[in-house]
Amino acid sequence: MEKFIRDLPKAELHLHIEGTLEPEMMFELAQRNNIDLPYKSVSEVRDAYNFTDLQSFLDIYYQGSEVLQKEQDFYDLTWAYLEKAASQNVRHTEIFFDPQCHTSRGIAFETVYQGIYQALQDGQTKLGISSNLILSFLRDLSAEEAFATLEQALPYKDTIPAVGLDSAEQGNPPSKFKEVFDRAQAEGFLTVAHAGEEGPPEYIWEAINLLKVSRIDHGVRSMEDPELLDYLVDKQIPLTVCPLSNVELKVFDSMAKHNLKKLLNLGICATVNSDDPSYFGGYIAENYQAAQSALDLTKQELYQLAKNSFQASFLSPESKHKLIAELD
Ligand code: HPA
Ligand code: ZN
Repeated sequence: MEKFIRDLPKAELHLHIEGTLEPEMMFELAQRNNIDLPYKSVSEVRDAYNFTDLQSFLDIYYQGSEVLQKEQDFYDLTWAYLEKAASQNVRHTEIFFDPQCHTSRGIAFETVYQGIYQALQDGQTKLGISSNLILSFLRDLSAEEAFATLEQALPYKDTIPAVGLDSAEQGNPPSKFKEVFDRAQAEGFLTVAHAGEEGPPEYIWEAINLLKVSRIDHGVRSMEDPELLDYLVDKQIPLTVCPLSNVELKVFDSMAKHNLKKLLNLGICATVNSDDPSYFGGYIAENYQAAQSALDLTKQELYQLAKNSFQASFLSPESKHKLIAELD
């Protein structure tokens, strides 16, 4: 099964580039940029990854991203992820970047964007992986700050097909960002939003009705609202599910209790993704594998998840069709 999963052509649609920072690279970049880390060894870093919920994870994640300073650092981070993805037969990837994590500590938007974008270009030519960038706003910051970040992204909008919403969900409903998302859509951006990870099903409804999202990131708490489940099936609004993240952040007590298989078998366009692989213990193949063994997913169900990943992407209908045909 391991080889079957690794070789399965797939797309990754929920991946935060800052969440691919492996401890080894954290040390390398800290040294390169003369930064003192609060850790002495790789194992000390891993020991610190002892999360109780989303917020305790975010604290560590924001701290780790401080080693990212120069364009080359963002390039190296992105390139390392793309090499890993290529080794797991990821054919297409849609990558969140969180400029506010970096601009808030004095790094220019262009530094972040250029480093990531150059690596994505090289990923296409050297590894054959196509990519889309998703600019994500930190929902614990204000709508005004999101507007300012959107302004910075406008010169690059032809290479950033979508905007998203991440960070601490509780108390920061999608409605807070309605005007920003309206403006983004008027500028031609598609929209997505994290919702229904820790937040209630109402946040998923708001993301759909107010932010007009093309898909929901996480969305596993849709299971609490039968009307919402019917709606997701009816409209085929995809969910980008992240199994290892959900277990690490205690959204589910164990992988055996994860609702991925139920969502899939209800007819929802569920996909499997890694979220923040260096923090949650695995890249996309490890996510498929962990879900497969705990939930006893069949090869048929794995094929369906991989097809869904292309279907739910922002690729053109022709590209989707070609990739899905490889799975028939
Ligand atoms: N949820 C919210 N914010 C995030 C996540 C997540 O899973 N990963 C990185 N930022
Ligand atoms: Zn996420």
